[in-house]
Amino acid sequence: SVKYSPFPQVPLADRQWPSRTITTPPRWLSTDLRDGNQAIVDPMDAVKKNRFFDLLVEIGVKEIEVGFPSAGATEFDFIFGLVRSGRIPDDVTVQVLTQSRADLIRTSFESLEGARSAIVHLYNAVSPAWREIVFRMSKDEVRQIAVEGARILRDEAAKRPGTDWQFEYSPETFSTAELDFSIEVCEAVMEVLQPTADKPIILNLPATVEAATPNIYADQIEYFCRNLPGRERAVISLHTHNDRGTGVAAAELGLMAGADRVEGCLFGNGERTGNCCLVTVALNMYTQGVDPALDFSNIDRIIETVEYCNQIPVHQRHPYGGELVFTAFSGSHQDAIKKGFEARQRQNDERWRVPYLPIDPADLGRNYEAVIRVNSQSGKGGFAWVLEQDQGLKLPKAMQADFSKHVQRMADELGRELNASDIWRAFRAAYHVQT
Ligand code: KIV
Ligand code: ZN
Repeated sequence: SVKYSPFPQVPLADRQWPSRTITTPPRWLSTDLRDGNQAIVDPMDAVKKNRFFDLLVEIGVKEIEVGFPSAGATEFDFIFGLVRSGRIPDDVTVQVLTQSRADLIRTSFESLEGARSAIVHLYNAVSPAWREIVFRMSKDEVRQIAVEGARILRDEAAKRPGTDWQFEYSPETFSTAELDFSIEVCEAVMEVLQPTADKPIILNLPATVEAATPNIYADQIEYFCRNLPGRERAVISLHTHNDRGTGVAAAELGLMAGADRVEGCLFGNGERTGNCCLVTVALNMYTQGVDPALDFSNIDRIIETVEYCNQIPVHQRHPYGGELVFTAFSGSHQDAIKKGFEARQRQNDERWRVPYLPIDPADLGRNYEAVIRVNSQSGKGGFAWVLEQDQGLKLPKAMQADFSKHVQRMADELGRELNASDIWRAFRAAYHVQT
C-alpha cells in the first residue's frame, strides 16, 4: 500500500532477535452470533441474527459461527432456517458450536441438514481448575471426552455425505492448561478425525479467560505450533478474550507466533469483557499496509447494525469506530491536523501523514467535518476552520487571533461545545455583521 506503510523498527544490529510483523491477513471467524450473542442481555431473535449475518457477509467474513444449536429452539430454528434460506454465499462457511455429548452433537448436525459446507466446532475444557473443580475428572477422562466427541463428529458427518464438513476442536481454557496436555488431547482428536494437509482440522486455542500478558499467550501458541505432531494438518486458530484489556494484542502476537486464524466479534462483543475486536485487529493491519480482506468502508452503517442487534452502544473512544476517535478539540492538535490536510492538498501526496489521525476517516466512510470540533480548549485555527467550512469565509491570519478571543469568551460563558452556528453568531456579534 502506498497510503499506509509499517513504521520504522529498531535496526536489527541493535536487538537480539528479528522482530516479527503481520504480513498477510489470517482466516477470520466471526463469533458474533455465538460467543457475542450468548453474552448479551437479550439474545438476538432470528430477525436480528439474519441482519447480523448479512452484515458479516457484506464485510467479507468467510467463516461465521452462527450459533449453538443444542442451546434451545431459537438457536436451532435460526440455523435450520438460515441453511435453507439460500442466503449463505458459496464462499461462506457457517460454523456451529457443540459440547461433547452424543445427543447435542446430533442436534448440531440436524440443524445443518442440507448445508453445502459447514464447520462443526467441538469443545471441552482441559485446564486443571476445570478438571478438578468443575468436572472432577482426571486427565484421561477429559481426553476421553474429546476423543468420544470426535468419534461422533466423524460418524455423523459420514452419514451426511452431501455436505462438505470441516471440524474444529477447542481445548477450552487452553491458556491456563498444561501445554503438553493440550497437545496430547488435540493429537488424540486428530487421530480420530484423520485430517490431511488438504483437509486440515481447525485447532482453536482459547484464552477462555485472559489470564496473562499477551506475550505469554503468544509463547503458548508458538510452543503448540512447534510441538504439535502433524502441525501441517491443522489450522491454528486464536480465540482471545479481553479480561485484561489485551484481547487484540494477544491475537496480534498470536498471529506473529504462527497462528493462521482469528476468532472474534465486531467491536469486541462476547463473554464478560468480550472477545477480541475483529474491526480493530483488521484495521490495525490496514494501517500498516496489509490488506485485511475485510471491508469497513462504511463503518457507520456497520455500527448502526451492530448496535441494533446487540443493543450495546459502541464506545465513543472505541478504536476506529468510536464517534470521537477522529475528533480533535485542542488547539495544538487542530493546528497540526489542519496543516496535515493542507500539505496533502498542496503536495498531492498519496501517503497518509495527517498528524494525530492514524487512518484517513474517508477510508471508513467518514467525512472530515467531525475532525475539528470546537470548545473552550480550542484555538484560533480551529475556529477559523469551522467558519470557513460553514460560511466559506477565510479569515486573514491577523484576524484569527482577535476572533478567537470572542469565540473563547462565548465558549467559556456557554460551558459547552460550540457548533457552526454559534461560531457564525460570535463572528456577527464581534464585527457587527448585519444579515
Ligand atoms: O472462550 C472460549 O473458550 C470459547 C470456546 C467455546 C471456544 O468460547
Ligand atoms: Zn469465547
